[in-house]
Amino acid sequence: MRDPPTASGIPRVLASPVERKHDKLPLLARLGVCWTVLRTQLGPLTLANPVMSASGTFGAGLEGRAFADLSGLGALVSKTVTVVPWHGNPPQRIVETPAGMLNSIGLENRGADYFLRETLPAMRAIGPPVIVNIGGESVDDFVALAERFSAAGVDALEVNLSCPNVQGGRLLFSTDPKMTEVAMRRVKEAATVPVFAKLSPNVTDITEIARAAEAGGADGITAINTLIGMAVDWRRGRAVLGRTIGGLSGPAIRPVALRMVHQVRQAVRLPILGCGGIASAEDALQFLAAGADAVQVGTASFVDPARMTRIVDDMRHLLEDAGTTVRQLIGAVSATGRTPGREAPQP
Ligand SMILES: Cc1cc2nc3c(=O)[nH]c(=O)nc-3n(C[C@H](O)[C@H](O)[C@H](O)COP(=O)(O)O)c2cc1C
Repeated sequence: MRDPPTASGIPRVLASPVERKHDKLPLLARLGVCWTVLRTQLGPLTLANPVMSASGTFGAGLEGRAFADLSGLGALVSKTVTVVPWHGNPPQRIVETPAGMLNSIGLENRGADYFLRETLPAMRAIGPPVIVNIGGESVDDFVALAERFSAAGVDALEVNLSCPNVQGGRLLFSTDPKMTEVAMRRVKEAATVPVFAKLSPNVTDITEIARAAEAGGADGITAINTLIGMAVDWRRGRAVLGRTIGGLSGPAIRPVALRMVHQVRQAVRLPILGCGGIASAEDALQFLAAGADAVQVGTASFVDPARMTRIVDDMRHLLEDAGTTVRQLIGAVSATGRTPGREAPQP
């Protein structure tokens, strides 16, 4: 449960900043303070801090170990795993853009058997809780993966709803409330661990999809995946990406992601994993204030594979300086500000 805000709506400790006295405390007491400041709760899952990798941007964390001590992250999220290997999209797959990147990887991965045998044990050995992101072309794919990964004892699942439903006429799960609800209900029936629904921003009203995921029994929402974009090589008269369009990520999408997290916070009671353009602790804290219970860092890890661990450290210092905690900050915007929904005036 969230700590209640003050009567003024300002998170309790932000209203009366305190000094950072605990730097002088003995080690064990300091560890206790760190735990209290950064701890967050995602339904039944308690995380030591709210910072985790975004699916597909940090592999399984294995290469990242060379750059930083990853044991202090809140969680590790895998790249999307499918039932059988997927070969992904033709090159070119990545383009740098102003303040971000476009990718069209196409969910390339070696499939569930390989992941369970080779990747998962190594990923677990890193230390933080492991969230496995699953994808598929039918609800049955999601169900099969949910059963297998639950049995393998992963800490949680994240369902990548931005997959085409082949049986449903190649409509993306994430753009259709009914398909979202059905997929989440079936996954929940099969899973024995918490399940997060990862939503696409490429919809008119993300709250409709979030409510559908909640109705289907999701334990939480991840918002957002990439925004569809395109890059053009006009000299050659063709698109730069092999599949013409791709997903835009990075700081360019941060204001959109923040707005969507805020709207989803108004719409559902579930824990939210905020994602999109987070590159610093300041960014991450904005997502928490907008209503996220934890954050995922994606594109920023390409620039600096140690960025996530730095965000954890910086976040602790910023919160201590402000005299508040993650749990007190979560949703502060809703408590203090007017929260226009779809009726917000367009500039
Ligand atoms: C190269 C790349 C690969 C990605 N692969 C996946 C994926 O396999 N599954 C998924 O759910 N999201 C995937 N994403 C989306 C990210 O997890 C994240 O939602 C998005 O990039 C926004 O966060 P960011 O701006 O911090 O990168 C990918 C993003 C990038 C840039």
